[in-house]
Amino acid sequence: MKGLILSGGAGTRLRPITHTSAKQLVPVANKPILFYGIEDMAAAGITEIGIIVGATAPEIEMAVGDGSDFGVSITYLTQDEPLGLAHCVLIAQEFLGDDDFVMYLGDNMLQQGLDGFIDRWRTMHADSRPPSLDVSNRSNSGPAAQILLTPVPEPHRFGVAELDAAGHVVRLVEKPEDPPSDLALVGVYLFSSAIHEAVAAIEPSDRGELEITDAIQWLIDHDVPVHHDLLDGWWLDTGKKDPLLESNRRVLESIEPRIDGDVDENSTVDGRVVIEAGARLINAEVRGPAIIGRGSTITSSYIGPFTAIAANCEVIDSEIDQSVIMEGARILSVPRLTDSLLGRDTEVVRSTRRPHATRVMLGDHSAVELA
Ligand code: G1P
Repeated sequence: MKGLILSGGAGTRLRPITHTSAKQLVPVANKPILFYGIEDMAAAGITEIGIIVGATAPEIEMAVGDGSDFGVSITYLTQDEPLGLAHCVLIAQEFLGDDDFVMYLGDNMLQQGLDGFIDRWRTMHADSRPPSLDVSNRSNSGPAAQILLTPVPEPHRFGVAELDAAGHVVRLVEKPEDPPSDLALVGVYLFSSAIHEAVAAIEPSDRGELEITDAIQWLIDHDVPVHHDLLDGWWLDTGKKDPLLESNRRVLESIEPRIDGDVDENSTVDGRVVIEAGARLINAEVRGPAIIGRGSTITSSYIGPFTAIAANCEVIDSEIDQSVIMEGARILSVPRLTDSLLGRDTEVVRSTRRPHATRVMLGDHSAVELA
């Protein structure tokens, strides 16, 4: 079984962060979102992974490399234009060959690993003939697709599944105005090589993309069985600030505490906290769950729950909580920063200069909420 991770998207809803950085590399608990998916695949024994990349390819290739750090081998596949998730499968056909594969959207985060999902697929295929590309000749093979579903409050924002009374998937629709159920498609899929025929057969949707949802519907329309699993645990599509902060919160909640940096005698560390090697606390209070990255210095400050401070940041005379602070940021004399996402090398500084005023230099699509 191979892996296919989709990491080509532009991330417009995370601007301005994504003007300079790929959305899949934004850190959650100080680790790029994309790494969680790669690690989940590696943990499930998948060693050959294709990553679809777009305009941010150089940055993603720099961060992930050849995969040896994860114990896998990575093949980069270029998508020149964002023409849809099913288009990614078209591009990857040569890499995937006749193998079954797990497809994972690079900005999705799941609490559950992939083991159970893949085990169920293997069990269903154990007693059957190998899946055939010829969809008319599939009577004794297992399902050609396995999807993961979960109830959501706003199904119209996702692909939505309709099940019949026996619990079989009978219809899938992408972002329907009038959703047939509240069961959203999570961004993790399992396919046999039968999907290649489906992605080649469908037409672009109204948004001009080849939808993977339509490709799976094509299988259903051709009487090819599609199996579904219900999600266990939380799932977030991290493409916007608030879900990103929520992912950070969820991951920090279960982080393994460890103090490898320096904590001076005037500092306190309370709860689930990671202080990475080379980080320093000077007269500071850190209340977990929180992580302070290597080379960061926290002086006369309070770092509250659900905060991730990346490497080489400086925080002085400030209070921060519920935030993701990216590498190299400086925060000086800021009484309370909350629910915030700061990009690399950002500065938030209280100044005593007159006139007492707010002075900003904000990139395109920045957002500031003044207290
Ligand atoms: C994509 C899929 C959608 C799925 C969602 C999960 O949507 O098209 O079916 O529910 O991912 O994150 P997109 O992120 O392209 O809007």
